[in-house]
Parts: sequence; structure tokens; C-alpha cells
Amino acid sequence: MGSNVAGSWDVPAHVRPDQIFDWDIYTEERLRTDLHLGWHWLHANAPDIFWSPRNKGHWIATRYEDQARILKDAEHFSSKELHIPPMFNNYVMIPLNLDPPDHTRYRAMLMRYLGVAQIKAMEPKLREWANRLIDRVIGQGRCDFTESLGAGFPVSVFMELMGMPLDQFENFRAIVTEYFSHISVARREELQRAIFSIIDGLFEEKRRAPAADLASALLQEEVRGQKLTQAELQSIGFLLFLGGLDTVANALTFAIRHLAGDKALQTRLRAEPARIPDFVEESLRRYAVVNQTRIVKKDVVIKDAHFTVGDMVLCPLTTAGMDERRNPEPERFDLERKDRGHITFSIGAHTCLGNMLGRMEMGVFTEIWLQRIPEFELDKIETLDWRPGLVMALEHLPLKWDPALTKSL
Ligand code: HEM
Repeated sequence: MGSNVAGSWDVPAHVRPDQIFDWDIYTEERLRTDLHLGWHWLHANAPDIFWSPRNKGHWIATRYEDQARILKDAEHFSSKELHIPPMFNNYVMIPLNLDPPDHTRYRAMLMRYLGVAQIKAMEPKLREWANRLIDRVIGQGRCDFTESLGAGFPVSVFMELMGMPLDQFENFRAIVTEYFSHISVARREELQRAIFSIIDGLFEEKRRAPAADLASALLQEEVRGQKLTQAELQSIGFLLFLGGLDTVANALTFAIRHLAGDKALQTRLRAEPARIPDFVEESLRRYAVVNQTRIVKKDVVIKDAHFTVGDMVLCPLTTAGMDERRNPEPERFDLERKDRGHITFSIGAHTCLGNMLGRMEMGVFTEIWLQRIPEFELDKIETLDWRPGLVMALEHLPLKWDPALTKSL
């Protein structure tokens, strides 16, 4: 794998032989060794835009400028199908799978709940949860960060946002953790039904007893002069679930893994917490999470690649932040980076609605972690367990520190 393989594959006639490059986004060995460096390797070794013959065949655009063009262009590239290989299962996640003008109506409605003021108001709750979860591991001097904290923290934030009963935390966290792990399609469908039923139950409860939370607010909302239907509410609830849990968990785990390997940076950020937002931003650039997809809905040519109706297109957002034409010396983690460019939250009409919340979650957690946990490092580990795919992860992150030096509240 990771090579030009013209001639050995059955590819559509509009793909030129020199545009074919063998790269499996799910199993490529380089991604298993290091996700982000693995993707960055393509910059030096593959065309800017190439056709992967794997997974039923699709385009991959690795440069910042091409991804930005594709993701902003709703005339030629649609969000109606986002799976590779395509599933065509007709399930519409609102607003993610919608194109303008439908998309705009739902997005404008949701944006009112995820703006600066609303997010800022959640900060004290986020601090409480970060402390509560850190309390569970602090005395042990070690933990698997991914499992105990990375995954749990965004679950608590989602529950607070939606107004879910917080005593369901353990139960809900178990479902979430299993849903995002390696499981069979049948088990995933089963868990999806369980999640739908939790979301439906939540809206039912809020109908009976409205409170100051997003679920109650959505019940009052109207789009095109109509209240949202049960199916629309379920779809929005499910997207907030999908969009806000695994992504934050993984971005936070990548960030803390970086810190574990850079003790000087730990010391610096402890002394200068005002630089934590720069740390978060550089971490989002250097360690992006999502490989964003589109399906071609109208033919268009970019850099000699003939994007043709029905083709799937992948924009690995990590290769935008790691593009040396956009960010010089992209492997280097640099808080002082001038004119940093990344599209880790995508770009254009579908730019992540939770980007401010996601950033705040990462910042608040990092600040409290550094205040309370002394110098920490990777615990004994042979290899890191990277998970390639459309949402990339680090399955385990064993950390250790000296419990005698920790700070209680
Ligand atoms: C570090 C954390 C996060 C990352 C890396 C991330 C990434 C993304 C990306 C790449 C998209 C764009 C999809 C596209 O172009 O089609 C997106 C969309 C979206 N995200 Fe996030 N996300 C994060 C956190 C969150 C959170 C916390 C929430 C929940 C509040 C959320 C809710 C959404 C929603 C609702 C959309 C759909 C926007 C639309 O289609 O208009 N995300 N996210």
C-alpha cells in the first residue's frame, strides 16, 4: 500500500492512471504507526489530489487550498452522503446531511444555542465535571486517559447541554464508549436504537417538565413556521451526540498525549495558563480528528481531477493543518506559530457548530489537569493504538505521575 498502482485496479474511465494511488483510509500501515505523520507522508509521496481504488474507490485531496475549495463549494459537492464506501441508507442527520437552502434554516436555529454567550454560561459546569472526573484517578498515580477522562468528559458536557438526568452518567457513558469502539455492524445498530430511545425519552420528559436546557428549547423551536417533528428532534439529538462526543474525546486525548511527551511545555503552561488557548489551537492544527467527506453532485475539474457526479471525495483535515505550503515545518508543535492555518472544524456552510464548545472543553480540561496533576508522562507502552477512519482516535493513553505531588481541591 501507499504507492501508485495504475493498471491493477478497476477504476472509472474519468480517472487517469497517474492519478491512482493505493491508500486505504482504514487499514493503511502508516496510519497505524502514527495517524498524523502517516497522513502527512502523502504530501511528499502522492499527487495533491488522487484516486484511492480502495473502499469502492474515491478521491482524496490532501492540500489545504483544495480542501477549502471543495468544502466551501455546495454547488458541486453535496453532504447528502458522507460514508466511505457510500451507504445510501437515507438517514438524514440534521443539519449535517442537508445542502442549502434547507441546511441554512436548521443551522441558523441551532446556532442560537451554541454561541459565545451560551457556551460561556456552561463554563462553571465544565469545571465541576473536569474536577469530578480527575478526582477519580488522581490518587492512583496512573490512568488510561482515553478511557477514564478523554471519553467521559464530553459525555458529561453533552448531558449538561441537553439536560439529561446526570445520575445516568455511568450508564450513558458505557453505551457511548462501546458505540465508538470496534464493534460489529449489528451491535452498532443495536446501540444506535438504544441511543435513539434515550433521546426520544429525553424529549418526552422535557415535554412534561421543561427546564433551562437545549432539549427543552428545541421543543419550542420552529422551522418554516412549524414545530420540529419527533423525527427531526431525534435526528438533531443524534447529531449532537455523534458530533460532540468522539470528536472532543479524541482531540483532547491527542492534546494530552502531546503534553505527556513535552515536560517543558507542561511547566510553561502551568506557569502561563493564558497560553492554553494557543496550545489548544496548535493541538487542533497538528492533531486533527475528522476526515471529512462529500459526494459530487455536479461535475467539476480541480487540478486536472475530473470530479464526476456520484464520486466520493475525502478531505483528511489533518493534511490541511499539516500542509507545509500553509504552515511551514508542520510537524513542529509551536505555540508561537504566526498565521496558523487549520480547518479541523471544517470550513464553509457546515463549519462545526460546536467549535466554540469543543475549544472550551479542551481549554478548561487542560487547565485543571495541569493545575492538579504534577509532571506526567506516558506509562509503559509498546506501541500506541491509533484508530484510523473517518473520525480518528487513540484507543488507549496510559499515563503516570507521582500521586504524592498531586493537588486536591
Ligand atoms: C474538537 C471537537 C470537534 C471537532 C474536531 C469537530 C469537527 C467537526 C467537523 C469537521 C464538522 C464539519 C462537517 C462538514 O464539513 O460537513 C463538524 C460539524 C458539526 N459539529 Fe463538530 N466537531 C467537534 C465538536 C463538536 C461539538 C462539541 C458539537 C456539539 C455541540 C459539535 C456539533 C457539530 C454539528 C451540529 C455539526 C454540523 C454542522 C453543519 O452541518 O452545519 N461538534 N464538526
